[in-house]
Amino acid sequence: MRKIEHLGIAVRDLEASNALFEKLLGTPAYKMEEVASEGVRTSFFKSGPNKIELLEATNPDSPIAKYLERKGEGIHHIAFDVEDIHAEMARLKAEGFILLNETPKRGADNKLVAFLHPKSSGGVLVELCQEAPAE
Ligand code: CO
Repeated sequence: MRKIEHLGIAVRDLEASNALFEKLLGTPAYKMEEVASEGVRTSFFKSGPNKIELLEATNPDSPIAKYLERKGEGIHHIAFDVEDIHAEMARLKAEGFILLNETPKRGADNKLVAFLHPKSSGGVLVELCQEAPAE
């Protein structure tokens, strides 16, 4: 784990939350992106060297829709930047963490991502992300 890559925040209405976070951070979202495979629309903000990802569900089966139903809006995950996601997944699995996906998948922002089950990581949904090689 090299650094925190971004914080993910679940929101009900991406446009309304974009306006709110633009006011909060004093800068607009620099990118919006839909990840159809995950059922989410995302936007990204910069705060100095740090990034915040807002996530809105695009269908009722989306993990974000389920999260909002259970917990409401708020911090959804912490993403860590890793150099080699396969090696890091193997290391964490050997340490007893539960991986939510066995192989990395393509996430927003040109990343390969994998998630750890919050049950095995202190109640925190952890995302590992590695800059994806160009296709
Ligand atoms: Co994320």
